[in-house]
Amino acid sequence: MSSPALAALAALPQAELKTIFESDPDRLSKLVLSHGPLRFDWSKTHLTNDLVDGFLKLAQEQDFTGRREALFAGAAVNNTEGRAAEHTAQRGVGNADSVALAKALHNRTRALIDAIEAEALGPIRHILHIGIGGSALGPDLIVDALGGDGMRYDVAIVSNVDGTALEKAMDAFDPDATLIAIASKTFTTSETMLNAASAINWMVEAGVEDPYGKIIALTAAPEKAMEWGVDETRILPFPESVGGRYSLWSSIGFPAALALGWDAFESLLEGAAAMDRHFQLTDPRENIPLIAAFVDQYYARILGCETRALFAYDERLALLPSYLQQLEMESNGKSVKLDGSPVDGPTAPITWGGVGTDAQHAVFQLLHQGTILTPVEFIASIEPGNALDPAHHRALLVNCFAQGAALMRGKDNEDPARAYAGNRPSTTILMDDVNPEALGALIAFYEHRTFANAVLMGINPYDQFGVELGKEIAKSIEANGPTGFDPSTMALIEIALGE
Ligand code: F6P
Repeated sequence: MSSPALAALAALPQAELKTIFESDPDRLSKLVLSHGPLRFDWSKTHLTNDLVDGFLKLAQEQDFTGRREALFAGAAVNNTEGRAAEHTAQRGVGNADSVALAKALHNRTRALIDAIEAEALGPIRHILHIGIGGSALGPDLIVDALGGDGMRYDVAIVSNVDGTALEKAMDAFDPDATLIAIASKTFTTSETMLNAASAINWMVEAGVEDPYGKIIALTAAPEKAMEWGVDETRILPFPESVGGRYSLWSSIGFPAALALGWDAFESLLEGAAAMDRHFQLTDPRENIPLIAAFVDQYYARILGCETRALFAYDERLALLPSYLQQLEMESNGKSVKLDGSPVDGPTAPITWGGVGTDAQHAVFQLLHQGTILTPVEFIASIEPGNALDPAHHRALLVNCFAQGAALMRGKDNEDPARAYAGNRPSTTILMDDVNPEALGALIAFYEHRTFANAVLMGINPYDQFGVELGKEIAKSIEANGPTGFDPSTMALIEIALGE
């Protein structure tokens, strides 16, 4: 390990979770931190005072405070692309000029929403949002988590180029009452452009009057949207400095703002802004995203855990694992450091997960008795998302807390097949409720935690060159036919595509 601080951390003895509270009775007060509607409990992880001290040294060694300052100042923290990463400016925190620009662009989005509500584009009941990756996962999560009964429009978010997905959405909608939102930062993503073209055809074939009048574009490339045929007045731009997987706060969040109402969208931004200020201004020792990153680094870099699992014990957060997969894996799944030299250890683990209690009856066997150590994260809400008998929510929470206790405590048994080793770590994030403010804060927490992890590893979380090669090869097959590939690829193309 080339980092002295990391080497020192690796040399520290490992605590035993079963007795960790006995050896430090004050543990709960030190390892539970609250922020507004969120409570973070790391007391069932292996984090000790010595580890926290060691990680603070690592943070210092990696210039955490300097890189954090650069992030909020709007400096070019995405060094490989020479760009800032200004998602916090969308929430009103950061470089003053970028905050002012974000405000102006939000006003533009709001004005278009007002016009749609006033039926300036005709009577709209359905929103067909077409985008992929960061242009879909964020809006999908927000709409799904906060939609409930209060949705003012039906929303379908279509990402996959598989026509089955688009067909299903179109079958459920009346083309005359549908608004199509094409969401693409670059406005070149092939899956999105093909889906958008097919959606327009659907409207044309259904005889919709002025189908292009019902298209809006959410993009950082307005000129490309205009070339494609979207009228300038219905283009909602956002700055290039907002990364795709960090873009739900910009006009990419349009379907959420329209369907949930602007007030809800604003509360989401405010919740995120409160977390921004916490991350920006709080001392490292009390800094929630940074401490979460210490835990991540401990398991991934010191203990070599190759995955981390998160389970939402709340149906409203069912899409959170997919959202976080892109955020964490696309950001920190890297092999080189900021200066281009190879990293000296593992970077982001694989993020996976699901919803409790379903996951308990499917994958928890491995977590309790398998040979792979997996740090687990539980997310639950004190308030339920339904009006059924409170017994449901009680059972949900009881199960969530029981799993964390069981993973930590384990259980002896004379029969080895029935014994649980215990000493398996978990973090619990308890939300007051799944409302716009809390969800905004939660997502911003994950964004900053991802950044903090990147800082501790010395990598750039804001580029994603690893996604390009496959796209290039697909384009070359489309443009030039299947030539020059390996025998396996050639045979697959011949059998499945007849080429
Ligand atoms: O291929 C990955 C990616 O570039 C993501 O980073 C991005 O969120 C997604 O594709 C969609 O890109 P766009 O918004 O430009 O269509």
